[in-house]
Amino acid sequence: MKIVVINGTEKHGVTYRLKELFLEPFRSSAEIAEYILPRDCPNFCQGCTSCFTKGEHTCKDYGYVRIIEKSLLEADLIVMASPAYAMHVTGAMKALLDHLCYRWISHRPAAEMFGKRAVVITQCLGAGARTAARDIKDSLAWWGISDIGVFCGALYGDIVWERLPEKRRRKLTSGICRLSHAYAEKDYTRPARTGLMTQIRFMFTRRLQKNLRKRGLETLDGKYWEQNGWL
Ligand SMILES: Cc1cc2nc3c(=O)[nH]c(=O)nc-3n(C[C@H](O)[C@H](O)[C@H](O)COP(=O)(O)O)c2cc1C
Repeated sequence: MKIVVINGTEKHGVTYRLKELFLEPFRSSAEIAEYILPRDCPNFCQGCTSCFTKGEHTCKDYGYVRIIEKSLLEADLIVMASPAYAMHVTGAMKALLDHLCYRWISHRPAAEMFGKRAVVITQCLGAGARTAARDIKDSLAWWGISDIGVFCGALYGDIVWERLPEKRRRKLTSGICRLSHAYAEKDYTRPARTGLMTQIRFMFTRRLQKNLRKRGLETLDGKYWEQNGWL
């Protein structure tokens, strides 16, 4: 099986540690591709919207985005890990999510995404891991993924793993290992089941695209939906 990991920070801190614990049961059998942000996609979206209207290849950062997106599409399991900064994901992770907005169901979703599985790992010092996880989960869900596992941790003490009280370290470790084993036991030869919310998002967009076509509005997204036979 193939796993792609997107790290929202270059630091080898607590997020890195939790992500490593998550990957442990997969190490011997899976092919793992890792991307580290901001190194592997260093620029912010500049808001030109040309990915939506003219095509993703017109983005000034397509060279970076294309490589990560290819790995995302090939992966059986997507792992996205970020600490909470100001109650949300890191700026680097948000920049990548912005770059991949054109892949939302409301634009040009990749058919491969509908059967994928994903895991979100976030942690923080006190509060913010849940809202950070929500940032990533929103994008994953709008890319079309229904099976999304989430781990949110809080340190409530020190920011250095080794200095955490033993009890807290054990709690974090057992939580991430539980999620890891749950995902290691899944059957990756079969696509994940498409959830109701994904179906609703898809049907809503299909109706929108049909209406736009009826009104004679030709858009890149509309053409894409037509070419995929989704209208
Ligand atoms: C810029 C910045 C903002 C942060 N914002 C929050 C926050 O909103 N809530 C929180 O509980 N911790 C916050 N933290 C603390 C980190 O989430 C925490 O130290 C985390 O363990 C860092 O993960 P890392 O070791 O993987 O870098 C912030 C840290 C930084 C550097």
